[in-house]
Amino acid sequence: MGRSIPLSLATGNPPVAGALLMQREAEQPADLHRSVMLDEIVQILRPVPQGVVVDATVGLGGHTEALLEAMPQLRIVGIDRDAESLELADLRLARWSGRYELTHSDFRQLPELAMARGWAPLAGVIVDLGVSSLQLERDERGFSFRREGPLDMRMDRRQKRTAAVLVNRLPYPELRSMIRDYGEDRQASRIARAIVEAREQAPIISTLELARVILEAVPQRGPQRIHPATRTFQALRIAVNDELTGLYEFVLATARLLIPGGRLAVVAFHSLEDRLIKRALRYLASDCECPPEIPRCVCDKRSEAKILTRRPLYPSEAEIAANPRARSARLRALEKN
Ligand SMILES: C[S@@+](CC[C@H](N)C(=O)[O-])C[C@H]1O[C@@H](n2cnc3c(N)ncnc32)[C@H](O)[C@@H]1O
Repeated sequence: MGRSIPLSLATGNPPVAGALLMQREAEQPADLHRSVMLDEIVQILRPVPQGVVVDATVGLGGHTEALLEAMPQLRIVGIDRDAESLELADLRLARWSGRYELTHSDFRQLPELAMARGWAPLAGVIVDLGVSSLQLERDERGFSFRREGPLDMRMDRRQKRTAAVLVNRLPYPELRSMIRDYGEDRQASRIARAIVEAREQAPIISTLELARVILEAVPQRGPQRIHPATRTFQALRIAVNDELTGLYEFVLATARLLIPGGRLAVVAFHSLEDRLIKRALRYLASDCECPPEIPRCVCDKRSEAKILTRRPLYPSEAEIAANPRARSARLRALEKN
């Protein structure tokens, strides 16, 4: 179960030590991560009925801030697995004290949390999947193949499984499947073999060490569009944080927590996530779940929601120019019947 981060009554800030707080205050959360498709998300959420909106991946609080600003009656619950992000989000949002609450949890716990904490039924939910720039750019978090750091990649640092555990302990077939399935990398066998050979000499403990092993394993022909380690790092991040398990079920369960007219908006950054989101939205909107070979509908399935985005929305060219990390974002949304 998640825990609410203890907010001090006077300031709404979590009780971080003074020095840490000063260091954090010097860092502006808005500079540490640029929120994607802010206007589009505010537009989608604007017509929702009064009630609680959940920002299931509150991160540095950018989407929550925009929504609190745009919709004065709104109350928001922000969830994140990353305690450091929650501390920074709390600093950023402090001026809206009383209108938001932050919870350190996995968003897949939302159905249980919403019932236990009395948030349901919900007016809206936003989910902005993936990692934040804060996580990518902190060397010690080990998410980036461009920065020297420990092979960590945990969003929730209470968890035991790190990227180093997977890299050094997964048997070859599992390592190869992970890189192939989560990284969609055609060089998976070659990379997995190189990792196994390298770790037989000595454990691979740092990000740059792993990036080097991959670079040496993959033949370079001409200029590369992406660094050869990109997909393996994505695969490891997905596996360490178990990002895809339960995502489909989460969307179904979350949509069922919405008030009629309530809305769900999801931003995905790669096709593996987006496929699950698309399937879940289609299922919620469909009026029949009979197998295609049955000539007439015999099921009781009724449409529960209307899809608001027949095709996903993409960031504008101007947004991509200002924030290249937005380029792979795609946004889908639905409204509860
Ligand atoms: C792209 S960032 C969100 C940024 C945020 N929307 C903003 O504007 O600042 C994604 C966040 O989702 C969090 N996250 C990813 N998977 C999660 C999960 N299953 N449960 C809770 N938080 C998760 C990550 O820790 C990260 O902070």
